[in-house]
Amino acid sequence: IQLSTRHTFGLSSCAQAEVVLSSLEQVVAWCKQPRDHFYILGGGSNSIFVEDYPGCIVQVALRGIELTEREDSWQLRVAAGENWHQLVAWSIEQGINGLENLALIPGTVGAAPIQNIGAYGREVADFIAMVDAVEIGSGKPLQFSNQACQFGYRDSVFKQQWANRCLVTAVTFELPKQWQAQINYAGLDTLDKPDAATIFAKVIRVRQQKLPDPAVQGNAGSFFKNPVVDAQVFNTLQHDFVSIPHYVQADGQIKIPAAWLIDQCGFKGQTRGGVICHPNQPLVLANNGSAKGDDVVAFAREIRDTVWNRFAILLENEVRLVGRHGLITL
Ligand code: EPU
Repeated sequence: IQLSTRHTFGLSSCAQAEVVLSSLEQVVAWCKQPRDHFYILGGGSNSIFVEDYPGCIVQVALRGIELTEREDSWQLRVAAGENWHQLVAWSIEQGINGLENLALIPGTVGAAPIQNIGAYGREVADFIAMVDAVEIGSGKPLQFSNQACQFGYRDSVFKQQWANRCLVTAVTFELPKQWQAQINYAGLDTLDKPDAATIFAKVIRVRQQKLPDPAVQGNAGSFFKNPVVDAQVFNTLQHDFVSIPHYVQADGQIKIPAAWLIDQCGFKGQTRGGVICHPNQPLVLANNGSAKGDDVVAFAREIRDTVWNRFAILLENEVRLVGRHGLITL
């Protein structure tokens, strides 16, 4: 199976086989067998196949949206194979507010809870009531409450204890009717008492200006996570780098934009092999058309090492790098 059109970075790697699961019966039947060497793929916008993958690609093609009105909220139960942005657009059209800051994030609904997608001051975890899944190996249905999902910054139980052990089939969102705009984030803070549709349109414009469109130039969004450090570590850094941008987290830790660290090291606009460090958003590595998996890994390691030598901060990859033995850590 050629994977170049199956992941947005567009490397021409191959997998051995593919299975498309289009009904819950098919999902359960597939999950009843113990499985080895499989990779569940949503929209392919957060995975880069840096080597040929000698296993089976699993695509969850379940579709459907159920809308329930409650006194104070709307409940949306959405099948895993639905497109994320189309869901956001549809909800805003219905006058159901809340997901507008998460417009234009590529990928599927089933993938959204896995890495807790987030943008412009919101995370999907803020709205998830329940995740339905099926256990791999037994075919048993599973339900994860918001708390059981153990959401963190670009993290959840589905990347930890439950990694490769279940397959997400549906996500239930709870969207309070009492809505509050979230416009603290740079780019949205110029809006004056906007409604959700205005924020939705603005987020689309900002993203289109800053981030390369994967349909035009292959990429997988942010390549690294923004590092979060203790206040003490940050104070030392700030002493040496007075202008370092930072965001204090609820728990007192400090998040530092990886884009700034990479920018300071002079990588912006640089290329290595067929990979370019994006000139508008250095956190994004993009495929200039001829990228090879080795170029991606080598450039990412060079960036990580350079940032480490200069700032003593270790960048971790946010994208999933898939190699012949499964996930690769840089
Ligand atoms: N910056 C620079 N130089 C640049 C660009 C940015 O120094 O050329 C610094 C600036 O200080 C800027 C800061 O980086 O204020 C943050 O940049 P930006 O607002 O673009 O956001 P980000 O932290 O780099 C995160 C998410 C994105 C999400 C945006 C917007 C992560 C890993 N990335 O990026 O998510 O769209 O915020 O909310 O948390 C993704 O996960 O794939 C993704 C694109």
